Amino acid sequence: MSAATPVIAIDGPSASGKGTVAQRVAAALGWHYLDSGALYRLVALAALRAGVDWTDMGRLVGLAERLDARFAAGEIFLGRDRVTDAIRTEECSTGASRVAGVPEVRAALLAKQRAFRQPPGLVAEGRDMGSIVFPDAGLKVFLTASAEVRAERRLKQLIEKGIPANIQTLVRDLRERDARDAERPVAPLRQLPDARLLDTTTLGVDEAVAQVLAWQGERASSR
Ligand code: DC
Repeated sequence: MSAATPVIAIDGPSASGKGTVAQRVAAALGWHYLDSGALYRLVALAALRAGVDWTDMGRLVGLAERLDARFAAGEIFLGRDRVTDAIRTEECSTGASRVAGVPEVRAALLAKQRAFRQPPGLVAEGRDMGSIVFPDAGLKVFLTASAEVRAERRLKQLIEKGIPANIQTLVRDLRERDARDAERPVAPLRQLPDARLLDTTTLGVDEAVAQVLAWQGERASSR
């Protein structure tokens, strides 16, 4: 791990499309990719499997410290189990947002996230990539979209998976989660003064990826 290894930090709210954009940017540059939210989801899944209560801070922190997480070829493993889909359930989403509010859990996951910073570079996405985990990132992006557009994108994904959903409920849930993420005392989600704003309300994935690559290109050529 080297602090000289370049990082692009992409932060933003739920369902903003930052995961897709970050993965595509990483692939285009041939860089590593960190889905930091997956780590919080893995802690939540480990807690669910071990029957740990959400209020049992001591055990939650222990699970985060001993987390045996592995990312390989687009799949996510907890120990030997492939849990790529298991961490995306509503139960895990709710659990992740609970464990993410525990400062000691966040501290326990810090070194694990920084270990992803490997040559030739890293594209990291989450809520606090630019503020806490990689404050020296060369490019910081705040990627967002209106709650209505994010809810429509989520609705489309759910329908494709055959999961029934309602647009009004999705908009309400997203607004509630946004408020929780932005108002929590530890590592709240907000646009940093040194982050570029990328609003994808009226922008497709291709255009968003092209914009991030253009910003990165500007940086590289100005050095
Ligand atoms: O991005 P996601 O939906 O997979 O994130 C899951 C949860 O983890 C969500 O409640 C926000 C939280 N999270 C966080 O607090 N900090 C991060 N860097 C990434 C995610």
